[in-house]
Amino acid sequence: MLVYLNGSLLPAERATVSAFDRGFVFGDGVYEGLRAFDGRVRAMDHHVARLAGGLRDMRLDWDAAQLRQIVPMLLDANQLGDAFIYVQVTRGAPGAGQSWRARVPDGPMVPTVFAFCVPAPPLEQSLEPAARTAMTIEDFRWRRGHIKSISLGANVMAALMAAEQHDDDAIFVRDGLVGEGTATNVVIAYDGRLATPALEGASILPGVTRALALAGRAGIEARPVTVAELRHADEVLLIGTLTMVAAVVRLDGAPVGDGRVGPMARHLAHALAAAIREQLA
Ligand SMILES: Cc1ncc(COP(=O)(O)O)c(C=O)c1O
Repeated sequence: MLVYLNGSLLPAERATVSAFDRGFVFGDGVYEGLRAFDGRVRAMDHHVARLAGGLRDMRLDWDAAQLRQIVPMLLDANQLGDAFIYVQVTRGAPGAGQSWRARVPDGPMVPTVFAFCVPAPPLEQSLEPAARTAMTIEDFRWRRGHIKSISLGANVMAALMAAEQHDDDAIFVRDGLVGEGTATNVVIAYDGRLATPALEGASILPGVTRALALAGRAGIEARPVTVAELRHADEVLLIGTLTMVAAVVRLDGAPVGDGRVGPMARHLAHALAAAIREQLA
């Protein structure tokens, strides 16, 4: 596998960074997860815009538009058409004479940029949603959930707690409202309708898959979704770049609807695939 590191393509085992890199020491960085289908990158504009916003919020000086060169270059180098692409930008490592652990860097730093890609299923394989189980968990994360920060300790902890309960994932809830999964946004289906938590007032990631699904013909409403609605939903769905659409068939140990992947999950999977196809055309 060839990975990208600071302007070069090199074998993964030769890609090394300083142990003092602030990504390693502080989790001081942001990332993107992208998807390519048949050699074309899905929703690049969305990813560039979200990354640019996160970099700005983190006071990190790097041009997010570089994604437009790095991602195709990586796909090309690895000869992948259907792939997941990960790109992360950290503040970099302190240079000679700079403090190892100063919160505010005491001098200029060069961001560390690392990216890799791995094979992922083609678009047609996303039409049948996977079945998952989930538990709800009080959202104990920071309140800047719109930033795609590499500091994912809390998401990892929640996922581990779910695994301990033999669940596939955790859904964060706060103040009686539904947030998101540990790596997905949430959609509920009720009375033949779909709703996803609004971004306003919530500390959740503006998922690119969510944006594509909202803009497509699935007919999703973005509004606050209560935990009570989640519990009484006909279907609970998780959407994300790698996940595409998954159906939560058991929530907190109780079946969701009839406990099987339902028609709205399939409806959303088809609508999302159509939106992606249109966007790629
Ligand atoms: C916490 C969280 N929410 C939502 C998402 C879904 O976002 P996207 O559709 O851009 O993959 C992700 C993706 O990694 C995530 O980590």
